[in-house]
Amino acid sequence: MNSITDIKGTFRLHNGVRMPYFGLGVYLSEDGQEVINAVKWSLETGYRHIDTASVYDNEKGVGAGIRESDVPREDIFVVSKVWNSDQGFEKTLNAFDQSLDRLGLDYLDLYLVHWPVSGKYKDTWKAIEYLYEQKRVRAIGVSNFMQHHLEDLLNTAKIVPMVNQMEFHPYLVQQDLLDFCVARNIQYEAWSPMMQGRIFGIDTFNELAAKYNKTSAQIVLRWNLQKGVITIPKSSKRDRIVANSEIFDFELSPEDVANLDSLDKSQRFGPDPNNFDF
Ligand SMILES: NC(=O)c1ccc[n+]([C@@H]2O[C@H](COP(=O)([O-])OP(=O)(O)OC[C@H]3O[C@@H](n4cnc5c(N)ncnc54)[C@H](OP(=O)(O)O)[C@@H]3O)[C@@H](O)[C@H]2O)c1
Repeated sequence: MNSITDIKGTFRLHNGVRMPYFGLGVYLSEDGQEVINAVKWSLETGYRHIDTASVYDNEKGVGAGIRESDVPREDIFVVSKVWNSDQGFEKTLNAFDQSLDRLGLDYLDLYLVHWPVSGKYKDTWKAIEYLYEQKRVRAIGVSNFMQHHLEDLLNTAKIVPMVNQMEFHPYLVQQDLLDFCVARNIQYEAWSPMMQGRIFGIDTFNELAAKYNKTSAQIVLRWNLQKGVITIPKSSKRDRIVANSEIFDFELSPEDVANLDSLDKSQRFGPDPNNFDF
């Protein structure tokens, strides 16, 4: 198993790049002061990984937050994603330039295909491979790709995606997909790890929180890491940004990891990658 050490700890991607396994999500953090503060507070706390996307409409603020922090750019792992309406070869190249422009950066650490848009994602992937070969991005990957999407992509891909970012929490484990990715050296990453804030008030989480003297959020985030899954909890509140990162001073027992696994009910809170219309 990967060892989990501290907030700046990393997992090694298949191209050798080290990706911090803990980061800040900024979906629904408003562009401007809200996201600038979230990014600055997270970096102050020790976070070294920020997850944005062009569709979040806050890349400008993310870039400003990075520049206003005391942390050098090269110490921060910055992720963005190509949106669905920008898919296809040429449009993806343009979308990447625009993201960099808004962020005010000259490279990204990871660029993801946001959703597997039917008939487009293979051309999108070709563009992303090209950007990688041009060394404009240190690692490339996908998001919301089910096994059949990955198998289809791998039929023609030159480069195996380094990451697959998926909805992942104790109600949606998708262990088969996770195992498939692990077997192919595709790092699994969780979005909505706290079920978009719905984990609070659920008995098993409360019981484990009491047992470990932690919060439900900390229990679930720690479970992500012990499953070998990178996690990017979102908050725009300073105290929560700090508290969500206090997960490196305890370890869930294997029984409690299994206990959380057993809550799985294949329940999604976000869209279904097999059936989305945007
Ligand atoms: N690839 C994709 O398709 C995709 C889809 C969705 C998300 N994502 C990424 O994954 C990140 C995380 O997912 P998410 O934002 O959907 O959901 P999440 O991280 O599971 O939950 C965020 C929600 O929980 C609240 N929260 C955070 N910490 C809390 C705490 N300690 N106590 C109580 N409430 C707390 C936040 O509110 P406050 O901000 O008010 O604290 C927010 O409403 C996103 O920000 C984004 O970067 C990717």
